[in-house]
Order: sequence, then C-alpha cells, then structure tokens
Amino acid sequence: MSKNVIFCFSGTGNCLDIAKNIARELGDTDIVMMRRAPAVTDVRFCERVGFVFPCHAGGMPLGMEDLLRTLSVKPNPYTFGVVSYAGYPGIGLSQLNSIIPLDYWAGISHQSACIWLMPHTLMFPPLTPEKAQKRSEELAAQIAADVKAFRKSDKAPAAPLFNRIEASVWPKLAAKKAAAFSVSGKCIGCGQCARLCPKGNIRMVGGRPDFGKDCIQCLSCLQFCPREAIHMGGPTVKRERWHNPNVSAEEINEKIIHID
Ligand SMILES: Cc1cc2nc3c(=O)[nH]c(=O)nc-3n(C[C@H](O)[C@H](O)[C@H](O)COP(=O)(O)O)c2cc1C
Repeated sequence: MSKNVIFCFSGTGNCLDIAKNIARELGDTDIVMMRRAPAVTDVRFCERVGFVFPCHAGGMPLGMEDLLRTLSVKPNPYTFGVVSYAGYPGIGLSQLNSIIPLDYWAGISHQSACIWLMPHTLMFPPLTPEKAQKRSEELAAQIAADVKAFRKSDKAPAAPLFNRIEASVWPKLAAKKAAAFSVSGKCIGCGQCARLCPKGNIRMVGGRPDFGKDCIQCLSCLQFCPREAIHMGGPTVKRERWHNPNVSAEEINEKIIHID
C-alpha cells in the first residue's frame, strides 16, 4: 500500500485528471477508482486519504455514499475531499464529511459533463476548455500544497437547501433519463460503452448496445463513444461531446493507478 490513497469517481475524466495532478505533487499515491466497489477498502494506516468526485445534480454521484460506507479510514490518516463541478459544488463534500470526517476540502469548477442539460463550455463563469483545464491544474497544485502541509479547513462544508432538494429528486430523474438512451447507425459495435458502464447496464446484443434501467448517469458511455453514436434525446444529437483530454477510456476503467 502506498503512503497516500485517493479514492476517485470520474465519469468523463475531470476528476481523474485532478486526482492525478494532486498525486503527482504528493508522490507515492494510489488512486483507487470508485466507479465500482473499490479494490482497496482498508486505508487506516496511510498518511493521507483523499476523495475526488464530481457534483451530480447537487450531490454525490448515485451509489457513492454506499461505497464510502465500505471503507475503513479513520482515526489515523489526514483526510481531504475535492469536488469537481460546472456551476456549483453542491452538498457532496458535506455528505462525504458526514460519513468520513474531513480535515480539509476544496472545489474545482471544470467543463460540464451533463450534455443533455447544457453544452460543456457553459460552466460558471463560462471558459474555453483550455482555460478551464489550466485553472483546474493550478487549483490542483494549490490543493496538493495544502494537503502536503496537512492544512485543515476551518469550517465544515456547506449543504445549501436548494442542492439538498435537487439531490433528493435526482434518483427518480436519473431513472427517467436512463430510459432516454438510444444508439445511431454510426455505432460500429466496438463494445467500449458496455466495458465502461460501472453498473453493467449495457449489454451488446447483435453487435449493438442495449441499455437497461440501472444507470447512475456517469455518462462515460456517451462521452467516450469513439463514433459519438450514443444519444439521450434531442439536445445530444448536435451537442459537442466532452471528456477530459488527459484521460483515456481505458484509464477511467482501471481499478488502481499508482503514481510515484
Ligand atoms: C449527470 C450529471 C449531473 C451534473 N450535475 C451538476 C450539478 O448539479 N452542478 C454542477 O455544477 N455540475 C454538475 N455536473 C457537471 C460535473 O460535476 C462536472 O462536469 C465534473 O467536472 C465532471 O467530472 P468527471 O469528468 O470526473 O465525471 C453534472 C454532470 C453530470 C454528468
């Protein structure tokens, strides 16, 4: 086990890119992916344990709270949380803090992955992908410096009422959105979407993906599709796809990424 561990959920790569940037500064870090049940659960003897994840509909990605409850973390390690979001951080850090008490937390705004709602550049404030990436790297370096120095946040993360309401209706809306997947004639039947799906919700039937109902809306299938063949209703037909340029589909599917 490495000195530091970062648990990371990432659908379209922003969070994995942030986790890698922090890990490079810290050195000797295992990034343990949390899209599925994590490969490592007992980190009580690490020096630093971090969590990097996106804001989904005001809260944590669906299912992440259950996965967090399988971890043994405290009392020893210094803990930190980083949320990536387009417009607002939501209540994810507060949810995390109530399960695993955090010593330090921060947020980084990046391109929006929620393609059926808005174009990826419509983050707050709107930024080009290049500028958003540069800002994300600068903030990750600052966060890493704080984490290296074991800096502590002086208050608990906020949980605004609006985001609490949003997060409470998200499971129903996500189930509705799951029914909106379709695949166009551009599909080449490569099966990457099925391999990426953390819930095993996509089966290849007759060389084409068949979508079930158990979707957590990570959108990896749609955003990494090499032929842009996967859609979720009208807005996604013309809208540009987005995934972080420093993260590949293969990498997002890893169990553990070690950074020296
Ligand atoms: C289903 C979904 C819901 C999202 N909801 C929010 C939200 O409520 N607020 C927000 O600021 N960003 C929201 N986003 C944007 C993501 O938090 C942001 O793009 C993040 O950087 C994605 O990280 P990832 O690339 O590691 O998956 C959402 C993205 C997705 C896919």
